[in-house]
Amino acid sequence: MAKPRILVTRRWPRAVEAQLADLFDADLNSSDRPLDQISLRQAIQHYDAVLPTVTDRIGAATLELARPQAKILANYGVGYSHIDMASAGQHGIVVTNTPDVLSECTADLAMTLLLMTARRTGEGERELRAGRWGGWRPTHLVGTKVSGKTLGIIGYGRIGQQMARRAHHGFGMTILCYNRSKVTPDVLAECGATQIGSIDDLLPQCDFVSLHCPGGRENRHLIDARRLDLMRPGAFLINTARGEVVDEAALARALWFETIGGAGLDVFDGEPEIHPALAGCENLVMLPHLGSATAEAREAMGFRVLQNLRDFFEGREPRDRVN
Ligand code: DGY
Repeated sequence: MAKPRILVTRRWPRAVEAQLADLFDADLNSSDRPLDQISLRQAIQHYDAVLPTVTDRIGAATLELARPQAKILANYGVGYSHIDMASAGQHGIVVTNTPDVLSECTADLAMTLLLMTARRTGEGERELRAGRWGGWRPTHLVGTKVSGKTLGIIGYGRIGQQMARRAHHGFGMTILCYNRSKVTPDVLAECGATQIGSIDDLLPQCDFVSLHCPGGRENRHLIDARRLDLMRPGAFLINTARGEVVDEAALARALWFETIGGAGLDVFDGEPEIHPALAGCENLVMLPHLGSATAEAREAMGFRVLQNLRDFFEGREPRDRVN
């Protein structure tokens, strides 16, 4: 029997690429450039499976062309708001993702951003590199203590819970969380967390707020100007979820006028472009979407995709099917 034809849209860890090439009739994107919309539309008509990443916007017009050829989109990553899920469902295309294996590393990075932001490390590094450091003094780059403060977590799924563990067990932080569905008492108990019924009620109670909810249309600008105003003066916002969850123009204003203390962003609406107003905010730490960027997580994500493909093509329900 002919091997299924699969398209990998970016370079992946070598060990995973080797296995993909072994098991499938695989086209690997050796140039590592994102496919443009025309190439994506052509690809989807020629492969049994397409293995996209967050940089591939797969909308209704592309998915319309998928059948009868493409049967599965095996996404490399946990978030899949770049795929039009309604259209995928309509055309009978299976979508899978890669949960669990990146939760710890993404939470590590969220904690990194929280600490970097609270302790003004971005400003400090810029000062040093520019040769502007005048030496130690008691009032120099004085930040905010993290230990013992209150952290609000929006989206108490796998990554949100990992963030809570780090913050609570490592830094003695009090955890409040908002989640659309009810979090079970045992999960809350692990970090002594309290589930709050609405985001509006959570925000004014927190010194730090970390976003771990999905992106997409539904959560677009979940944190907007009104909600930024609900945050405590001096509080910090951390986003390792998706850029569109935050209204970046409103955030830039809040940072500029210091109605909040600062923000740490790993994701951006329209990335890799950055909203121009953000670049001028001193109290902002920005990272280029590094949440899952460890050798361990990136390899494990690849093997998880591989498992999903094997399940699918060997007639089993893929473990990480999301539709
Ligand atoms: C994820 O897994 O969702 C990362 O953000 C990369 O897409």
